[in-house]
Amino acid sequence: MSAEPTAMEAHAKAEEQARSARGAAEALQVGLLGSGTVGKAFAQLLSEREDAIASLTGRRPSVCGTLTRSSGDFKEILASCEVMIELIGGIEPARSYVLEAMRAGKHVVTANKQLLCEHGEELFDAASENGVMLRFEAAVAGVVPVIRVLTESLAGVEVKRIHGIVNGTTNFVLSAMERGADYEHALAEAQANGYAEADPHEDVSGADAAAKMAILARLAFGTPVRLTDVCYEGIEHLISDDLQYARELGLGLKLIGTAERMQGGLSVRVHPAFLYGGHPLASVGGQFNAVTVEADCITEITMSGPGAGGPQTASAVLGDLMSVMSAAEGSSPPPAPPRQPLPLLTDTDSAFYLHMEVADQRGALVAVASVLDRWGASVKSVLQRGLGENARLVMVTHPLSEASLRAAVAEIGELEFVRSPPRAIRVIEEEFA
Ligand SMILES: NC(=O)c1ccc[n+]([C@@H]2O[C@H](COP(=O)([O-])OP(=O)(O)OC[C@H]3O[C@@H](n4cnc5c(N)ncnc54)[C@H](OP(=O)(O)O)[C@@H]3O)[C@@H](O)[C@H]2O)c1
Repeated sequence: MSAEPTAMEAHAKAEEQARSARGAAEALQVGLLGSGTVGKAFAQLLSEREDAIASLTGRRPSVCGTLTRSSGDFKEILASCEVMIELIGGIEPARSYVLEAMRAGKHVVTANKQLLCEHGEELFDAASENGVMLRFEAAVAGVVPVIRVLTESLAGVEVKRIHGIVNGTTNFVLSAMERGADYEHALAEAQANGYAEADPHEDVSGADAAAKMAILARLAFGTPVRLTDVCYEGIEHLISDDLQYARELGLGLKLIGTAERMQGGLSVRVHPAFLYGGHPLASVGGQFNAVTVEADCITEITMSGPGAGGPQTASAVLGDLMSVMSAAEGSSPPPAPPRQPLPLLTDTDSAFYLHMEVADQRGALVAVASVLDRWGASVKSVLQRGLGENARLVMVTHPLSEASLRAAVAEIGELEFVRSPPRAIRVIEEEFA
């Protein structure tokens, strides 16, 4: 009668089986386009993890060729790879390479938000026509698995709204401003820490976040959305005063991307917005990204994590490669074609924060409130600070359309006791805690 194996013997046997599985694993050739911040980190991560992946999947992925501006040959890499990883960035030549790879029957993984945002339909069609997979988790919010959650976990859910902090640079700058820094110093701190480019325009103007929200909106609402369909505004005009006063009203400031089903259409926009403490994104600080998805049947879920960085982004790319490898056997469907597209809306209702520099005189508050009332806005909370010529009037309104708010603000700016144009910033009212 044979004795039961001890725990140590069982462990040794499992190790031996894993070793032989790794030895027997069939090679999987991966073509790598780009060897910059993410490309290099991906190649390193893949070589570190290839044994573990071989044991898990029975395939051993390795880079069969790398293309940069000065080395590598695209045709040779294409001929020898099974999966093409595009980490060049920008539109061309990335678009042509990705299309050619799919037409040649290769699965593609990319981290390229610009390409997805501007040519998403062309790429999804090419994937579908050629029966290959196109994965792009790293294109939005880096390592935060929002694409997979939208296309798989929540595929059967009618999404109502997505709010996202999808740009780490601006979140870092706003967090520094919340601690009292002015915009220029906060941006310099982000640059010194490697969280902002030398030319930060794409980030601080809101364009980067807008491209990412276009991709999320397309997936969640089955409606093709391009960058030009997204209304966006950046953070360059914000002053630390706004953040200090808002804190007294229980509000924190973030650059928020929103994609929202409303009034029979779809609104996709990016703008600075105040959040109450009970919103899950209110506590997301520094360079972190986070996305909240709302639907009636799930209430809300929030995912957060690092939105950029070589190793972080590389791990999302590797996750996509493994997803391709495990789906290749059963051939998972490419992203669903657009459902009934929703009309895109430009003017949407919102609550607003208003900051006015006023001469401290009787009747000022009543005069401002009566202009707002004429444009359909009622006041939710008010702060009055300072005396004489330096008085400030800070208000939060209940929701009204942006067009009405702009008209009311123009009228308030004409009142003789208002000393400079009023500042208006959106307020997100939802709270879940
Ligand atoms: N960096 C991040 O934290 C991050 C986060 C999320 C997503 N992403 C996305 O990941 C992608 C790569 O970003 P990255 O930061 O790694 O960029 P990067 O550091 O600028 O690297 C780009 C690489 O592409 C190569 N390349 C550029 N033009 C080329 C051309 N015409 N032909 C062949 N190769 C070319 C470059 O070659 P050379 O080496 O010869 O210059 C370089 O190796 C982008 O789509 C980006 O948006 C990046």
